[in-house]
Amino acid sequence: MRRKLKAVIFDLDGVITDTSEYHYRAWKRLADEEGIPFTRDDNDKLRGVSRGECLKILLKEKQVSDEKFQEIMNRKNEYYVELLGQMTSKNILSGAKELVLGLKRRGIKTAIASVSKNTRTVLQGTGIEDLFDVIVDGYSVKNTKPAPDIFLFAAKELGVKPEDCAVVEDAEAGIDAALAGNMLPIGIGPEERAGKARYRFEKTGDITLTKLLEIINF
Ligand code: BG6
Ligand code: MG
Repeated sequence: MRRKLKAVIFDLDGVITDTSEYHYRAWKRLADEEGIPFTRDDNDKLRGVSRGECLKILLKEKQVSDEKFQEIMNRKNEYYVELLGQMTSKNILSGAKELVLGLKRRGIKTAIASVSKNTRTVLQGTGIEDLFDVIVDGYSVKNTKPAPDIFLFAAKELGVKPEDCAVVEDAEAGIDAALAGNMLPIGIGPEERAGKARYRFEKTGDITLTKLLEIINF
């Protein structure tokens, strides 16, 4: 029989908060200014990917100087942070907080593992900074998703073995990272994006506590 898992690690943008929409709007504003075509499908490839890697994907073969690259990255972040200024607890995705509280009540550890350098700002703005046992972000590790490093670091901070962790992710890069880290991936989103996960839900609100406990065999 499969053993009980001890911890659930959550991605932030697009899993706990709806801030993936703000990432999209910030990139869209920037892409329009730079004359780069950019659709919501293009944006899906940027989910879970660090800011610099996102820009490389966006620029494709287009060559820019290091200064320009840095300037564009900063501008994207300015637009994103501007949008974060309007944030409240309404930006928490439906069902997310209840799910984490339910896990905690049963003694299951929880963490946030996001490659975003704005993780703390998002958690503070939505008022859930104290909800998780551990928070790891874009400053915690060098190699970002799809490398497993951020999830392995979260597991270490939680004091739990990687194989005792489940990961909830909306990004293909994040699901790949969880698999590479020998963790159980639970995907959020359509088959094209989250299909590689062991379990998949259309949205966070579809994962009930009962279902999640069943998945982690608790
Ligand atoms: C991830 C998002 O959580 O954070 C990506 O899914 C984003 O879209 C990445 O690029 C980095 O975020 P930030 O806030 O450091 O630019
Ligand atoms: Mg995400």
